[in-house]
Amino acid sequence: MHIDLLFSPLEELRCNEIKNKTVIVIDVLRACSTITYAFNGYNNEDISVLKGVKEIIPVKNIESALLLFNSLDDKSDYLLAGEINGFKPEGFHLGNSPKDYEVNKIFGKSLIFATTNGTKTLNIFKEANNLLIASFLNAFAVTLKLIALDKDVIIACSGTEDVCGLEDVTCGGLICSNIKDLSMEKNLKINFSDSSIIAMKAYQSFGNVLDIFKQSTHGQRLIKAGFENDLLPCSKINKFNIVPTYYNGKIIPELVKPVSFCSLYY
Ligand code: MLT
Repeated sequence: MHIDLLFSPLEELRCNEIKNKTVIVIDVLRACSTITYAFNGYNNEDISVLKGVKEIIPVKNIESALLLFNSLDDKSDYLLAGEINGFKPEGFHLGNSPKDYEVNKIFGKSLIFATTNGTKTLNIFKEANNLLIASFLNAFAVTLKLIALDKDVIIACSGTEDVCGLEDVTCGGLICSNIKDLSMEKNLKINFSDSSIIAMKAYQSFGNVLDIFKQSTHGQRLIKAGFENDLLPCSKINKFNIVPTYYNGKIIPELVKPVSFCSLYY
């Protein structure tokens, strides 16, 4: 298995045969973290039972989101969600803060979701047969899933406006570290690209995820815009066993249970 990591979505140009690979899309601040909270329900403490949205339809931008929403005959099961310049777009029901996704507002609904970077990266890689969404929140669950799939892996870091972001690269590095640990434990043959080794070393050089966020350009931008309280919920490592998976235009949640999953696959 070969593991490659893209520092920014622009590097997609050097990827061949995406279709047969597992692509991991990372946008830690905040799209991919928020997607994971949206499936669980922000205030749902029982993580073994999902109490969030049924599905998420990622779209390129807010115009496409509004177009899709307005074309629906029955809008009652749908919510418009996402951000523009970090803020909830006018006319949208929900923004891009994890705390917006409380169970009573979202349970059983379908989200039409548009963000600046995260949904754009998803769109770039939508041809992949296996397209998984990762953040610090589900790094280990994603690792178990990609190892079970047993295909070459591309870890696509969204960054901000096509520029590399520290928070995404270090999250990619955590996933690479997990892969390395599991490969040694299970005697798997894995090749890491230079970029994935750099990411791994970058992750290992930080003590804590909140420090990473506070030093990152996007983290600082969120603090300035008044979203500092979003950093803590996005910083929890392996809080969830949810692997949001893109399939046929929609993101659906898969619950990976580490113990049974390991005994099943190793
Ligand atoms: C994005 O997808 O561009 C980000 O999630 C932006 C944000 O922090 O709202």
